[in-house]
Amino acid sequence: MGLIEKHGAIERNASFLLIGSLLVVSIGGIVEIAPLFYLENTIEKVEGMRPYTPLELAGRDIYIREGCYTCHSQMIRPFRDEVERFGQYSLAAESMYDHPFQWGSKRTGPDLARVGDRYSSAWHVQHLTDPRSVVPESVMPSYGFLARAKLDTDLTSQSLQANAAVGVPYSEEMIDNALADLMAQADPELDASGLESRYNNVRIEDYDGNPRELTEMDALVAYLQMLGTLVDFSTYEPEANYR
Ligand code: HEC
Repeated sequence: MGLIEKHGAIERNASFLLIGSLLVVSIGGIVEIAPLFYLENTIEKVEGMRPYTPLELAGRDIYIREGCYTCHSQMIRPFRDEVERFGQYSLAAESMYDHPFQWGSKRTGPDLARVGDRYSSAWHVQHLTDPRSVVPESVMPSYGFLARAKLDTDLTSQSLQANAAVGVPYSEEMIDNALADLMAQADPELDASGLESRYNNVRIEDYDGNPRELTEMDALVAYLQMLGTLVDFSTYEPEANYR
């Protein structure tokens, strides 16, 4: 009896076929799934990633509150058209401190994963205040009120604490100094040595160009200017199995 006929015997018996299929699927499943339990982390580590500064975190909250994610993605896929337009494709590690992540599912506007450092902060303020004044065909709503809205800092350290509770490595020191660090990032006149010792690669600027007040515009632009700039891709080497 050839192999095909032997197999025929299994195929003609429903119970046999069911038991056989279950057996094969179980073995396959164990081989695929079991190793994952022994991996501590499936995210490839990269140099430079750090938790958001308190000001960037506040800006991120405004980004979410205003629904920017309904028109903008933050996830550059590894396809040539995307990489040529937006830059180096996104790495999993770049959103590992995002709760919730902002990959998005719709691009009415362009991807923002690497918008940081692409424009001046004055450009962002102008664009957010009146998008059509810089991009005449833009359909983006204007967010001028952000420049008049005082940034609410009552919950700054609690916000870091909440992120720490879900696994973002904010230290006690970062949580205790959250408010001072937030202030120092938006005002170049203040002493920023503490901020810089706690967070690498921080941009310090009066983002909204209005030194008299700390506004929601300051926080949002600080967040935008950081996006995609933390990993230094001139030194980044993908691990062998990702190449
Ligand atoms: C209704 C859809 C819509 C919403 C909501 C929206 N945008 Fe946009 N955005 C656009 C479009 C379309 C463009 C491209 C035209 C332009 O530059 O204005 C754009 C462009 C941008 C750019 C320039 C990107 C580049 O690479 O040139 C930035 C930055 C930006 N948006 C930030 C934001 C932020 C921050 C919010 C939330 C406060 C937001 N957008 C909300 C549609 C939207």
